[in-house]
Amino acid sequence: SAATTYEAESATVSQGAVESNHAGFSGTGFVNYDNTTGSYVQFAVDAATSGPATLTLRYANGTAVNRPMAIAVNGTTSTIDFPGTGVWTNWQEATVTTTLNAGANTVRATATTANGGPNLDRIVVGTPSAGGTP
Ligand code: GCU
Repeated sequence: SAATTYEAESATVSQGAVESNHAGFSGTGFVNYDNTTGSYVQFAVDAATSGPATLTLRYANGTAVNRPMAIAVNGTTSTIDFPGTGVWTNWQEATVTTTLNAGANTVRATATTANGGPNLDRIVVGTPSAGGTP
């Protein structure tokens, strides 16, 4: 099925601000996480069916220091890395595989270090590629 895009600037933000001063984002802006542990962006993700899904997070981190975040999907958390991208206008992607429920899901990306999260542009929710099972 088709991938669905959820822009960070349309999500729920705790301890962060929507900004647009670093070019290359999709939509109308991105979220600049406050530089504090626990800052988060939360997305309301709707899925047609239950099952595995890929979450592709588009971000920029213009520092040399990784800004890991806890990605919680309906309360189940995995922590993934958001390494430096060199400059704030260089946007890259980080992907995590998860399981969604049919209907409403909550996806929260929370900074786990005092540097806060990277600048977050969007998440794209898709179906993992087929393969393996004939
Ligand atoms: C700079 C940059 C911001 C970024 C911030 C940070 O201020 O302009 O976009 O969010 O650094 O370190 O988090």
